[in-house]
Amino acid sequence: MHNNMTLPITRPQALELVKKYNSEQSDLNHYFESEAIMRGLAEHFGLGKDEIEYWGMLGLLHDIDWGITKENVATHLTKMPEMLMKAGFDNKFIENILSHGYGFEELPHLKDKQRTKKIEHALSASETLTGLVHAYALMRGKKVSDMDKEGLMKKFKNKAFAAKIDRNIIQEIEKIGLSLDEFFEIAINAIKKIKNEVGLE
Ligand SMILES: [Fe+2]
Repeated sequence: MHNNMTLPITRPQALELVKKYNSEQSDLNHYFESEAIMRGLAEHFGLGKDEIEYWGMLGLLHDIDWGITKENVATHLTKMPEMLMKAGFDNKFIENILSHGYGFEELPHLKDKQRTKKIEHALSASETLTGLVHAYALMRGKKVSDMDKEGLMKKFKNKAFAAKIDRNIIQEIEKIGLSLDEFFEIAINAIKKIKNEVGLE
């Protein structure tokens, strides 16, 4: 078992696993963006190389079963544990992922998975922020290269913009010592680095 930050599979193997269950490009974009922001956060916190890989892997794999559960949302994250266990991930990694489903009415099976750890808040805040950055980029003609955090903040505060995105979850980043301002800067920079892979410019 892997009880430290060592990952049982490589990034290319993880991507292959993701693609086995997910074919929609928009879903893949969300996973890549979540991965990028998680890596950006881990780097910001000064974590070591293994931890940066670990945080990124959580972002990449957090919705691994989405492609086969979205038709029946109540089952989201019920297939994930077995998929990841088979790939060699330990319970801790899986628990981190389960916590991002906490608080969703559609997922009563996760009502006891309150987020308590830094890495759990980071994952939820990151995967939620991807939606806001991506929607804002699309509104700007796909451009993320010259996006600034002030513009993103306006979209964050405008509750009518991308209204389904839960601002409270993004704000969980404050529980782990970052301001929204810092978080937005890290996220925009992270997504800029992978813009071509996620259909942005
Ligand atoms: Fe997600």
